[in-house]
Amino acid sequence: MGPSAYPPISAAFCFHWHNLMSTTVRKAVFPVAGLGTRFLPATKVLPKEMLVVVDKPLIQYAVEEAAAAGITEFIFVTSRGKTLVEDHFDHHEELFEALAGRGRLDELEIVRSVVPDGAVFAATRQAQPLGLGHAVWCARDLVGDEPFAVILPDDLVKSETPCLQQMMDAYADKGGNLVAVVDVPREQTNRYGILETASDDGGEGSLVEITGLVEKPTPEEAPSTLSVIGRYILQPDIFALLERGERGAGGEIQLTDAMARLIGAQPLHGLRYRGRRFDCGSKVGYVAANAAFALDTPDLSVRIEAELRDLLETAQRGAPDGAQGN
Ligand code: G1P
Repeated sequence: MGPSAYPPISAAFCFHWHNLMSTTVRKAVFPVAGLGTRFLPATKVLPKEMLVVVDKPLIQYAVEEAAAAGITEFIFVTSRGKTLVEDHFDHHEELFEALAGRGRLDELEIVRSVVPDGAVFAATRQAQPLGLGHAVWCARDLVGDEPFAVILPDDLVKSETPCLQQMMDAYADKGGNLVAVVDVPREQTNRYGILETASDDGGEGSLVEITGLVEKPTPEEAPSTLSVIGRYILQPDIFALLERGERGAGGEIQLTDAMARLIGAQPLHGLRYRGRRFDCGSKVGYVAANAAFALDTPDLSVRIEAELRDLLETAQRGAPDGAQGN
């Protein structure tokens, strides 16, 4: 459903206008209620956010990115079977003592640093799988009346400056609502929120003014190939729009549709972030993320590079699996 399907926004959503520039973003919402059906059987009991890239679960990359951008309150929107996500950020005294007792101080530090200094964690449940917009709405009481970030842990961004920090820098300048955006091949528009823009010079690190947003349009219908990735900074006014419970693409309550309704009432910008996104909601993106992060891990990079080269050469020679290399 495109933005044109909506009536004009009412002035009621402008009441934060005077405040849009000033408030610090302290809270981040992590929707982690999804079923992860694309990764079955791995995700039969394991939450997809606990899938590991090299040596850390996806949710930890997301929390670290948020902490690096100054977030201090971490809000998980969970569902049945997702307690491991919360457990991962719990204090684990037994493990601390065991590692300390054995003098394993490096490992102790690794486990301790799972929880960022000064972090406060909270969780709420999404009782029914009604979509991303609904999941975010479930966090409304924990967020309260202040701007907040949303991070989808499926989207893992490898960048020099963490993606959310890049957004915070842009937010300090522009305020309002912000999403991180990247071009995708036209045949993939039906997997993402797609932008219609007023100005776009296409440069890395540049900001685009968003004039329309459509959730998962077909390649033929897509207004562009510029897509939303799972990083948002939003004003709390979005909750009133989500509250309406209007269904969009896939019969779900879409965050994209609520943001589309903000257009005209509040600034909405897309940041062409600097970095590379791995869509870890897809197998290709997930495997590529493992390769990319491993190639960037000092202890592993040389050996992984040799393995990958060998695999590619073997595949190019058309040899049967495992017939060559080691
Ligand atoms: C969600 C959003 C979509 C966005 C995508 C980024 O889709 O609805 O607009 O482009 O995340 O990963 P989902 O991946 O939940 O289908």
